[in-house]
Amino acid sequence: MSTNDLFTRAESAAQFLLSQTALRPTIGLILGSGLGAFADSLTDASRVPYAQIPAFPRSTAIGHAGQMVIGKAGAIAVAAMQGRAHLYEGYSAQEVAFPIRVFGRMGVRSVILTNAAGGINLKYQQGALVLIKDHINLQGHNPLVGPNDDRLGLRFPDMTQAYSRAYGKVAQEEASKLALPLEDGVYAALLGPSYETPAEIRYLRTIGADLVGMSTVAEVIAARHMGIKVLAISCVTNMAAGILDQPLSHQEVLETGEKVRGQFEALLRAVLPRIAADLS
Ligand code: HPA
Repeated sequence: MSTNDLFTRAESAAQFLLSQTALRPTIGLILGSGLGAFADSLTDASRVPYAQIPAFPRSTAIGHAGQMVIGKAGAIAVAAMQGRAHLYEGYSAQEVAFPIRVFGRMGVRSVILTNAAGGINLKYQQGALVLIKDHINLQGHNPLVGPNDDRLGLRFPDMTQAYSRAYGKVAQEEASKLALPLEDGVYAALLGPSYETPAEIRYLRTIGADLVGMSTVAEVIAARHMGIKVLAISCVTNMAAGILDQPLSHQEVLETGEKVRGQFEALLRAVLPRIAADLS
């Protein structure tokens, strides 16, 4: 393959990031809309704007700071992305998943992915944190399309347990110790950027989706391709279209993210040492 292939580009970006810090994180985080504040609390932090990282996609969505923070949460070294690229910004699925490739080449073996999502399941309330247990990819894109690079992973990766059950159990246990309700559910990923219609939400409920959003799935597919374990948590920033008699807005999404910030950070802080222990 050429010197500009995906593997080589990911390797260069990884080496660049590692040259900015003495830390060697084995856990990567992607923090979604309104959920990026956790990375501000990291200590010994190196902050690298995406624009400086070779080949890295930039996020243009409001509520996404667009930088990688490599730092420590307590004793645990992590690489945390404040914001991500989305298909609706015009990026390909391969570009959206590129940061996962970079994590993998940096030595990351587990990722924690977070996002803002619309709640389809009527038992959720606005502000609920939901553990993603599976997904339905309705984006019409897949980051593995094209020639497979065997150095990254298999041509046909298994997705039976895309979301680590063990990590899900850890998250549930830590949430209950913190007395935080943590539901679980199936995440349907759509292309966006328009929100869904009420008819689309009824359809998604019928096919088994509990949550809807516009991210995460391409990242999960690339992570599983590379053998990286996944924990994913949604914040139900709004009830999905047609459930309440009100229009949806990105402002509401950001405001709800801000409101659950404390709970969300507490959960991440509790989960991280247990995932680090799993990797050591
Ligand atoms: N739909 C799709 N994506 C979203 C939503 C939604 O209702 N809320 C936050 N992200």
